[in-house]
Amino acid sequence: EKGGHDYFMLKEIEEQPEALANTLRGHFSDGVVLDEQRLSEQDLRDIGKVFVVACGTAYHAGLLAKYAIEHWCRIPVEVELASEFRYRDPVLGRDTLVVAISQSGETADTLEAVRHARTQHARVLAISNTNGSQIPRESDAVLYTHAGPEIGVAATKTFLAQIAANYLVGLALAQARGTKYAEELEREFEELAAMPEAVRSALSTVGKTRELAARFSESKAVLFLGRHVGYPVALEGALKLKELAYMHAEGFAAGELKHGPIALIEEGLPVVVNMPSNKGSSQLHAKLVSNIREIQARGAHTIVIAEEGDDAVRPFADELIEVPAVPTLLQPLVSAVPLQVLAAEVARNRGYDVDKPRNLAKSVTVE
Ligand code: BG6
Repeated sequence: EKGGHDYFMLKEIEEQPEALANTLRGHFSDGVVLDEQRLSEQDLRDIGKVFVVACGTAYHAGLLAKYAIEHWCRIPVEVELASEFRYRDPVLGRDTLVVAISQSGETADTLEAVRHARTQHARVLAISNTNGSQIPRESDAVLYTHAGPEIGVAATKTFLAQIAANYLVGLALAQARGTKYAEELEREFEELAAMPEAVRSALSTVGKTRELAARFSESKAVLFLGRHVGYPVALEGALKLKELAYMHAEGFAAGELKHGPIALIEEGLPVVVNMPSNKGSSQLHAKLVSNIREIQARGAHTIVIAEEGDDAVRPFADELIEVPAVPTLLQPLVSAVPLQVLAAEVARNRGYDVDKPRNLAKSVTVE
């Protein structure tokens, strides 16, 4: 039942192309199709502000929604931990869309954030993997990620599916608000639709990542760096390592290095760097290369995740993991793969139960 693997999580990592394809299937035909829609076109057109609320891995997927929705729809987006949201009296109204992301659809913090939003007359759109769960039931619109059941407590395929779902929500808003032409929407969707294949090819990094994990499984700590959409991926890489391998791990926006975290760098410390594409955003690429040189000079062991053919970073990577070149906003879908495998395999090497990490539950129904 684990598909020949030692643990479910690896099977679920390998199911990601399918999970993505299933999430996209049926959600686009002449525009985005939601699973449930109790909002009018006018309601969507009137949205002037978006909040994304979620916990854990879903929150990291939510952070990525901001890049796509702001870029495509020209609406300000705030992403907030569901457990913090209602305690600070956020400014909400009928023109606010709250996107609640929850694999289980039952997470108490996220559910309470939804209930709070509704008391303030905000519109709520749920992204969930569980049909008929509580959060979708209490929302005005629902987009289901059809990733299939996830056994591993640490989210993997549902994370990728949530990212895709966010992008669909971004396209739906762009469509309603008219910030994108039908052909542009179609083109963005086509790029998304090509991602299951790209993720399949990113799975070819599994073997190399397992070897790396074996070498670093006794490290004291691991740092993760990224910029732009690579930053939430760095946070997710660190969370996975904490959850599964009980290892101290932190994700940082690489630009913040010099404002503090660089003090943590010491001889032999593994630092995982998520490189942006060397094509479009080459300015960021050059900045990341200079970050890598700075930390290397201070003794860090750099594990670099870069797109295939990125020869500029090669000389500075102690270890290089190459993922397929894809459009910038979609890069997290491929770069997350080696980070998931790294965490799972470090945990396995340390003798831990990868599918059932200590102290954690798949769904947390208390606040
Ligand atoms: C945590 C799980 O307790 O809840 C995480 O261990 C998950 O893996 C988080 O990301 C949020 O869960 P959900 O179901 O709301 O997406």
